[in-house]
Amino acid sequence: MSRRALITGITGQDGAYLAEFLLNKGYEVHGMVRRASTEGFERMGHLQLRDRVHLHQADLLDQLSIITLIKEVKPHEVYNLAAQSFVPTSFTQPLLTAEFTALGVTRVLEAIRDVDPGIRFYQASSSEMFGRVQEEPQNERTPFWPRSPYGVAKAYGHWITINYRESYGMFACSGILFNHESPLRSKEFVTRKVSDAAARIKYGLQDKLILGNLDAQRDWGFAGDYVEAMWLMLQQSEPADYVIATGIKHSVRDLVDLAFQRVGLDWKKYVETDSHLLRPAEVNTLCGDASLARTKLCWTPKMSFAQLVATMVDEDLKRVRRSIAAEKAAADPPRLD
Ligand code: NAP
Ligand code: GDD
Repeated sequence: MSRRALITGITGQDGAYLAEFLLNKGYEVHGMVRRASTEGFERMGHLQLRDRVHLHQADLLDQLSIITLIKEVKPHEVYNLAAQSFVPTSFTQPLLTAEFTALGVTRVLEAIRDVDPGIRFYQASSSEMFGRVQEEPQNERTPFWPRSPYGVAKAYGHWITINYRESYGMFACSGILFNHESPLRSKEFVTRKVSDAAARIKYGLQDKLILGNLDAQRDWGFAGDYVEAMWLMLQQSEPADYVIATGIKHSVRDLVDLAFQRVGLDWKKYVETDSHLLRPAEVNTLCGDASLARTKLCWTPKMSFAQLVATMVDEDLKRVRRSIAAEKAAADPPRLD
């Protein structure tokens, strides 16, 4: 009998890669989606997942909907990826962020505790919790100093996961994942904003790229590598928390430089900065130490930063070329006579 997994946030970047990964492992994959007036399943479309997963409507804000879903699906494993995940929005919508990203975790844990406390649980914690970093590189014991309402909400989600493990003996793990990106990343995050702009500028569809803090440094990896670590955490004999990272950091300036090199342009001619894009409190630098994951889970990241940027830019170049060709075909349909 195949194992059943339930993914909250299946329509997001990680949800799509995790669903594909679990399907390849032979899992029956169920996804929780919230109701919207239009279907937002583009990422699942990219990975040809739409007909291979079972989708159910429920919402992180609605306790009963999550209980009903877990009763219906009877999953062996729950991956809680759903969240309001964009840091700037957490400053403008701090209460909603807390409802989704903090209390939402407790709602999922409560549902599991009520329906079947034997279900294994993964919580998507974040390196954003380290915020104003207290040491470098950061590991599972580094103290948190979150610098955004999102980071504070994630710290709550992290500790409530540990609390349910300690209080009720639940198999609950928290993955402290550093930034991970892919061609499926939303365009609001800096990597995809840059790869999309480099491709559009190359083809004359955009003149400038406006960014915020070019000095910020992140430890960027590939989302496809990181979802394997989520699964590995739930296959261990004991639950624990793990940092997942590459251990190498780069600045936003390095990212821009590499992306524009890929399209053969000098970034300094196209990139401007705007102080409106600076955050009320910034996380200046993040760099993770994933030694525990390396030794216990035998996990290592496979894609380098340079390969990641090249892959993202190449995918955006293809997409822009396709959209230019489609517009041209629509404006100039072939004559049939
Ligand atoms: P993402 O692309 O922003 O996806 C977020 C998902 O959450 C979407 O499927 C979204 O659904 C869903 N969601 C939001 N509010 C919801 C609600 N009230 N009820 C149900 N679903 C809701 O995020 P991601 O990059 O895949 O990240 C996955 C998780 O890992 C998030 O929790 C994020 O905070 C965390 N994380 C990400 C990174 C990273 O670098 N990517 C690093 C550390 C931790 P809609 O499609 O309906 O909006
Ligand atoms: N988004 C964005 N847009 N960021 C910019 C820009 C810009 O125009 N210009 C500079 N940056 C800087 C930000 O100030 C930040 O220091 C860095 O680029 C990365 O920003 P994001 O890509 O938005 O990611 P993040 O680090 O804030 O958050 C992501 O990673 C976290 C893990 O540390 C998200 O995926 C979070 O959900 C995740 O938890």
